[in-house]
Amino acid sequence: MDIDRYLAAKKEDLTRKTSVVRNFNVFDLSYVPEQPLLREEAKAIIDAIMRYDHTGIPNNLLIHGARGSGKTVMLRYLARALQGKIAAEILYVSCRQHNTSFKILAHLVGIPPRGLAHSEMQRRFEELHPGRCVVVLDEIDLMSSKDPRYEILYFLSRNPRNYSTVMLSNNHRFMSLLDESARSSLQAESILFRKYNAGEVCEILHQRVADGLRQSPAPGIIEEIAALTTSRTESDIRVAIKGLYYTVTEPHFSIGQSFERAQRDVCIDVTNDLNDHTLLVLKAVGERQKENVRDVYQAYAVSCRQRGEKPYSYSHFYTTLGYLQSLNLILMVATKVHRAIAKRAELLIDERVLDAVVKHRFG
Ligand SMILES: Nc1ncnc2c1ncn2[C@@H]1O[C@H](COP(=O)(O)OP(=O)(O)O)[C@@H](O)[C@H]1O
Ligand SMILES: [Mg+2]
Repeated sequence: MDIDRYLAAKKEDLTRKTSVVRNFNVFDLSYVPEQPLLREEAKAIIDAIMRYDHTGIPNNLLIHGARGSGKTVMLRYLARALQGKIAAEILYVSCRQHNTSFKILAHLVGIPPRGLAHSEMQRRFEELHPGRCVVVLDEIDLMSSKDPRYEILYFLSRNPRNYSTVMLSNNHRFMSLLDESARSSLQAESILFRKYNAGEVCEILHQRVADGLRQSPAPGIIEEIAALTTSRTESDIRVAIKGLYYTVTEPHFSIGQSFERAQRDVCIDVTNDLNDHTLLVLKAVGERQKENVRDVYQAYAVSCRQRGEKPYSYSHFYTTLGYLQSLNLILMVATKVHRAIAKRAELLIDERVLDAVVKHRFG
């Protein structure tokens, strides 16, 4: 093979396919549009931040909702839109990237997470932020099991400077993972981001087209992608946006093919996003699909011990299965065995995807 010729042909092919795209950022899932579709629930967040700004009394929030329901984009947008208009600062941190309290503080203080004692890091944070400050902790459910007490929540909620905290979580059971004293010092108001309906999905896609494409896709295509998104996923707008991408850049794909490709991409992302324990639970489900969930628990506990980690309790493990089901990664089924009901968990994703993610994570 002549590599130069191959590369030139590939480049030409890519240029041709993507000539319709004016701005690739609109397909980047971290893109924050100038003016996102403002959902009703956003008002409750704005109200809480304004109340805090006015009174100085913290108004902690837990915002939960399925993946792709627009939690991150909404808070990033509000941080930008409110900047300079209110006295309080809004700080954003991704707990996926900074997954312990110490790393979160180091990131917020702007120094590497080593060399300083935790208390010194806290002191620096207070020094930098003596006034009102809203700390947005995105994907707090992905914090490491090395920080089981979520120290950062204590630090923020019990601080005499009255910091306010906004936690974003895909897992609606996040609060139940916290111990009672953290819950009671937070007193967080819970806001659910419900699933988008087909009309809202269309609106978001039309906006991406306006922001990033040179020409609109053929009539009806956006509506078709929106209908597939609401019927085949939990209205995961990320699948819709990726589906749109494949539709415009791979014109020989049918809409169904573009959509399937988008679903596969997102499935890899979702699996990759699980924290270590949840991924180990999923791996155990993959290995023990025909067996009772009690046996799945045993398999999970064995793999934890092999990695030198303490397994979740059975009830926590069971909650995790519910979470994996809410992500559409597994399905819980009840079957009758000798008059008793046995529960099994089935893997809903391609085992090869799971194996690849596990291998990548744990080697
Ligand atoms: N209301 C909205 N307006 C415009 N784009 C949106 C909206 N909600 C979600 N999106 C887009 O959908 C994708 C997923 O949203 P995201 O905020 O990451 O979801 P979540 O944090 O709930 O998983 C992002 O690319 C985001 O820009
Ligand atoms: Mg998010």
